[in-house]
Amino acid sequence: MLLFSVGLWQVFSIALVNGQSTVQSSAASSSISVASSAPSAPSTAPASVSVSSASLPLSSISLSSASGSSSAIVSSSSAASISSAPVSSSTSNATATGIASLPPGPSQVPIPGIFPATDPLNPPSVDQITVVPDFGPAWKDAYAKARAKVSDWSVDQLVSTTTGLAALGITARCVGNIAAVNGSDGWPGLCLQDGPLGVRLADRITAFPPGINTASTFNRSLIRTRGLFMGSEFKDKGTNIALGPMMNILRVPQAGRNFEGFGADPFLAGESAYETILGMQQGGIQVCAKHYVDNEQETARMTSSSNVDDRTQHEIYTHPFLRSVMAGAASVMCSYNQINGTYACENDKTLNDILKGEFGFQGFVVSDWGATHSTLAVMAGLDMDMPGNGGLPGTNSFFGDTLAEYVNNGTVPKERLQDMATRILASWFFLHQDSPSYPPTNFDGNHQSNEATNEHVDVQDDHKTVVRDIGRASVVLLKNTDGALPLKKPRTIFLAGSDARPGIIGPNGVTNGIDDGILGMGGGSGSATFPYLVSPYEAIQRHAIEDHSSISWVFDDFNLNAVRTMGRSPAQEVAVVFVNAFSGEGSDRANLTLFHGGEDLIQAVASVNDNTMVVINSVGPLIVDSWIDHPNITAVLWAGVSGQETGNAIADVLYGDFNPSGRLPFTIAKNIDDYPAGVVPAVRGGIAQVPYEEGLQIDYRAFDARNITPRFEFGFGLSFTSFEYSNLQVSRVGRDQGNESRRDLDLIANWEAGEANPRTVGSSTALWLHRPAFEVTFDVQNTGDVAGGEIPQLYLHMPSSSGEPPSILKGFTDVFLAPGQRKRATVHLSRHSLSFWDAEAQGWRRPDGDVGVSVGASSRDFRVNGRIRF
Ligand SMILES: *[C@@H]1O[C@H](CO)[C@@H](O)[C@H](O)[C@H]1NC(C)=O
Ligand SMILES: *[C@@H]1O[C@H](CO)[C@@H](O)[C@H](O)[C@H]1NC(C)=O
Ligand SMILES: *[C@@H]1O[C@H](CO)[C@@H](O)[C@H](O)[C@H]1NC(C)=O
Ligand SMILES: *[C@@H]1O[C@H](CO)[C@@H](O)[C@H](O)[C@H]1NC(C)=O
Ligand SMILES: *[C@@H]1O[C@H](CO)[C@@H](O)[C@H](O)[C@H]1NC(C)=O
Ligand SMILES: *[C@@H]1O[C@H](CO)[C@@H](O)[C@H](O)[C@H]1NC(C)=O
Ligand SMILES: *[C@@H]1O[C@H](CO)[C@@H](O)[C@H](O)[C@H]1NC(C)=O
Ligand SMILES: *[C@@H]1O[C@H](CO)[C@@H](O)[C@H](O)[C@H]1NC(C)=O
Repeated sequence: MLLFSVGLWQVFSIALVNGQSTVQSSAASSSISVASSAPSAPSTAPASVSVSSASLPLSSISLSSASGSSSAIVSSSSAASISSAPVSSSTSNATATGIASLPPGPSQVPIPGIFPATDPLNPPSVDQITVVPDFGPAWKDAYAKARAKVSDWSVDQLVSTTTGLAALGITARCVGNIAAVNGSDGWPGLCLQDGPLGVRLADRITAFPPGINTASTFNRSLIRTRGLFMGSEFKDKGTNIALGPMMNILRVPQAGRNFEGFGADPFLAGESAYETILGMQQGGIQVCAKHYVDNEQETARMTSSSNVDDRTQHEIYTHPFLRSVMAGAASVMCSYNQINGTYACENDKTLNDILKGEFGFQGFVVSDWGATHSTLAVMAGLDMDMPGNGGLPGTNSFFGDTLAEYVNNGTVPKERLQDMATRILASWFFLHQDSPSYPPTNFDGNHQSNEATNEHVDVQDDHKTVVRDIGRASVVLLKNTDGALPLKKPRTIFLAGSDARPGIIGPNGVTNGIDDGILGMGGGSGSATFPYLVSPYEAIQRHAIEDHSSISWVFDDFNLNAVRTMGRSPAQEVAVVFVNAFSGEGSDRANLTLFHGGEDLIQAVASVNDNTMVVINSVGPLIVDSWIDHPNITAVLWAGVSGQETGNAIADVLYGDFNPSGRLPFTIAKNIDDYPAGVVPAVRGGIAQVPYEEGLQIDYRAFDARNITPRFEFGFGLSFTSFEYSNLQVSRVGRDQGNESRRDLDLIANWEAGEANPRTVGSSTALWLHRPAFEVTFDVQNTGDVAGGEIPQLYLHMPSSSGEPPSILKGFTDVFLAPGQRKRATVHLSRHSLSFWDAEAQGWRRPDGDVGVSVGASSRDFRVNGRIRF
């Protein structure tokens, strides 16, 4: 929305201005060293970008050949290396050597029903919750095709596959473009397009709900279906890579892009990323998991360093990316910020060592637009530069001709360049985009009024159904005094606030640079063009017509006299106030208050009407304490931002057509100072240091650890009915149920003995660590009068010796129940979920002692408890 009217240029001009200033400062803060060769792996070693034997599916590309000699990554990264300037020297060895320090991972055998060989177009169904898909064989096939394709390509052809071209230029249609390679062994190139909630800068698409509302459903089926529908729209528009999902963590409540992501908890964000990616890639599109990593504020996003300790990095910020790798993500986008003083796109530790090494990522890493700061970034793991040449006015790519020179003069080994191109083409083959039926790009996001390049292909299908389903399932009922909701055919109904109405200049219009009318998404590259946008006014008026209610309204947020005159009870049986708060890419919110004087509007209505209801459309947390306890406020709905069906979704809950089951994906504090982290301001001409000093204690984990009572805790949400929990049982999942290799049994035994297993390639995504190890079952019963869905959440309480926060989310499910109905529900726990990252031993380790298990309705509303004994 914000960027719709000004187009992409705004993002790029920010990138340009800051890019220049950060290029200068980067020389001071990160040291780039080039070594001619390393003894262990001479640069003349033959390329071993070879795929390993079939028995090594998880990490085939990086694993060595049968002879056990060094892998491609080992040999290439030894010839030239970028070393970061870590805050502490304790990691410098790992940083300098990168993936070279990791031995190959354990061999793993596909196990039917548990670890089946999986093609991304045919993932396990969402109900097959115990299945860990094995994408190894599919990657292996894709690598074989890619290697055959690139083997004869010249340096220039290889470079061209890694370097964006003419983004926004005369002929470029997409936000990122990779040119075709001509000739008999040619290849059509790539179209990369925003964004996380739909095909941006295109028409006849669906504007899906943003990530934050998707996560607040806590409903895997809905998350998966949204992914599938989005993926198929990207494919049908002829794009190759969708620049999403976005999975940065809501560390800072004001952060401008929080609406794009999946909330404040790494497990919730990880599962949301996993289901979204399985769905999107099933739709045929390559995903791009972003922004890797520690990109949790917009202020100084290109001139700040997120300083994050290794344990927090593993347990919180990289976790959704680990789950993305497990979902077979084709690409990952490195972020604008620095990590410990080294830019994310040239960070050997996070790219080579953690992502490609420890997680076994086999796709490619693409820079955020303008986030590349050096050519030698390729040695740290960067595979593609965007927007590349001709992207930012007046700048040339660090790749392109410069990269070719580095290769031609031996600074960058050709094997590394081949590895980059191989990864990029393998991702394309992995999604079967070589199929003759794969649609060519049929829209032009950069020239939307050019009829010659816009075919206006309608890709919407009936995807609006999942928009409405997610919209209503994401509404969180925060307050409902004496069953004020659902509405029961009121005689009169009064609406207040501009957020109730359509925008004055259409669903995509902006006035004064920000939102106008009903807020259905945030701004920036995480937005899309609304094909239509249903406002609450339209949806509620339809009910008024049905119910023979007299409806009236004041949409002027500041005409409080009119509000007080027209909104009075008992003349108005119910008064619904609509308020919002907006943010977008490039700017954080300055505060946690409502826009357009929302607090005053609420007070004005509540002062004259004793049945005042408040509907909030917000991109993230707000402080609601100044008004929420007002005795005349009988109901409060947290509706977030939910895409093109927002008005219908809200009306479905207000009128009881849908019993609310949404849960807060973050904590609402009583006071802004109760949050453990805030926005760190920019430093003029320098790099702002962002210390992640709160470590593991973000959001509810901090409130629990510091004994601070929030207004509404993470996971909270009311229903029109009530639920009872009982009969919790914990059982061990039989080890012989699968068919683990001898090696896996050893790793399991070691873990059970309380040891951390060594880091190897793919060790953090290994089967033994992620397959179910314990099963927690319990009964849920609907004890009220209406049907409804409950979201049981499982929290672990690790012994204090582990250093974990008091409660951590490690499971959730959703149960729909008729009145009186009871169902047994199951949540599985993997060894990974039962581990913490031992930074000293560099491995996942179970805590010493029993682990408490609670299942309940929020992070503070535990209903049944148990223990796990190892
Ligand atoms: C780093 O390497 C040096 C030299 O090989 C060694 O003395 C030192 O102990 C290593 N540090 C760590 C943290 O492994
Ligand atoms: C490849 O072919 C396209 C279309 O025929 C042409 O526009 C482009 O200039 C060619 N590229 C090169 C590098 O020759
Ligand atoms: C950043 O520094 C911390 C503290 O020394 C360390 O634990 C962490 O691994 C470093 N991360 C990176 C990516 O260098
Ligand atoms: C290789 O080429 C790059 C780019 O032109 C240049 O910066 C670098 O100094 C060259 N290195 C050598 C060893 O010639
Ligand atoms: C909160 O921030 C918004 C812009 O981000 C601004 O319009 C508004 O005036 C601020 N409100 C307060 C109370 O400071
Ligand atoms: C609640 O609403 C009634 C009108 O129904 C009004 O008289 C009363 O003052 C309001 N209460 C507060 C605390 O504003
Ligand atoms: C277990 O694996 C072995 C060898 O890989 C195979 O022969 C056997 O049939 C498998 N058993 C099951 C139950 O899958
Ligand atoms: C989750 O979504 C699915 C698919 O729409 C639906 O069948 C199920 O009832 C939902 N769960 C709850 C608790 O509403």
